[in-house]
Amino acid sequence: MGAEVVIEGLTKSFGKQTIWRDVTLTLPPGEVSAMLGPSGTGKSVFLKSMIGLLKPDRGRCVINGVDIVTCSEHKLYEIRKLFGVLFQDGALFGSMNLFDNVAFPLREHTKKSETEIRRIVLEKLEITGLAGADKKLPGEISGGMRKRAGLARALVLDPEIILVDEPDSGLDPVRTTYISQLFLDVNAQIDATFLIVSHNINLARTVPDNLGMLFRKELVMFGPREVLLTSEEPVVEQFLNGRKLGPIGMSEEKDSAQMAREQAEAEAGHGDVLNEDVRGVVPQMQVSPGVPERAGAKRRMDRVMRILHTLPANAQEGIIESLTPEQQRHYNVRPHASAPRQPGPEDTQQLPPVTSPGPVPNQHQGQLPADQVARIPGAADRRSPRHGQGGA
Ligand SMILES: Nc1ncnc2c1ncn2[C@@H]1O[C@H](COP(=O)(O)OP(=O)(O)OP(=O)(O)O)[C@@H](O)[C@H]1O
Ligand SMILES: [Mg+2]
Repeated sequence: MGAEVVIEGLTKSFGKQTIWRDVTLTLPPGEVSAMLGPSGTGKSVFLKSMIGLLKPDRGRCVINGVDIVTCSEHKLYEIRKLFGVLFQDGALFGSMNLFDNVAFPLREHTKKSETEIRRIVLEKLEITGLAGADKKLPGEISGGMRKRAGLARALVLDPEIILVDEPDSGLDPVRTTYISQLFLDVNAQIDATFLIVSHNINLARTVPDNLGMLFRKELVMFGPREVLLTSEEPVVEQFLNGRKLGPIGMSEEKDSAQMAREQAEAEAGHGDVLNEDVRGVVPQMQVSPGVPERAGAKRRMDRVMRILHTLPANAQEGIIESLTPEQQRHYNVRPHASAPRQPGPEDTQQLPPVTSPGPVPNQHQGQLPADQVARIPGAADRRSPRHGQGGA
């Protein structure tokens, strides 16, 4: 199983510019998580901080018991071997063919024989759909193939944690779907912990188990996908629907005058025309036929059902509705039973409780202050009462 990554109070600035502060979240082992956020909110800085390429000012990032913020260079070097990283452009060496590119980490970090290296490289090229392309130079292949080659290289050291920065940049929507499918298939095959950074709405809605969002220098939310997909937090709703109307503007944030102006324009019929306004929990992408089931998905389901009663009502509803009838029986839940309500004449029998009440461990370990789960910095007054409940 992939490693768990526990991040607590992580803060990063460059000089006087704070990029984000007090980021606290846990990447559950073997699950696929995605971090969203408008351009410039520090998503790439976050990934680089997680592998120790950038040094946070304070906070912890604990992997297998080692805090990579404060550990020695030697420890950091060891911990880095747990990571596979797919950079935005694939970051391949232009003068090396794909075979040598993918073999590079093995030659650099292991003492494996060339025969063994050949076996591993060809296997990873096969997994990523690049069989037969091993002699090609990066300049001779398409952007999608370069991405896949970057993923093949990220996989050779059998990583426990895979970080992916903007997998869709430079890819058409179809190829983006293919690479998303590949992430889930690889996750099923090696059970690694994934963190994908993206601003692709479609990918965000359909691929990860967990979603987080950075905005205005803070982590707005992090939790099971259903929490963000059903959230009424203005910034999350705006982002997941790609709308102009909302707190996010062209230059990161808007002032209240601009928001009021845009609201008035929208009411006068000059709102967004392209927005699909998809709401609720859309089905999650499944692994390809023939690929084993994702152990991480199964663990996540158990985990989410344990913390179900701590989640916002909309999320509870979305989760229960997305279960098969057998799963609903297994977890002893029924649709429309999550929100507390007065029994009406239609109730012919007592509805079972969603889950047993009482403190349960959530993925943030221990009791997470409610305001760390669902908040928009500086906008507590805009929040509906149901936000801020529950763990992630
Ligand atoms: N090495 C650095 N030195 C100084 N400032 C930096 C450095 N790296 C990033 N920044 C700044 O940190 C901020 C966040 O950058 P980052 O690249 O993480 O954004 P992002 O969320 O990944 O954006 P995008 O979606 O456009 O990729 C930016 O203002 C950027 O200028
Ligand atoms: Mg970036």
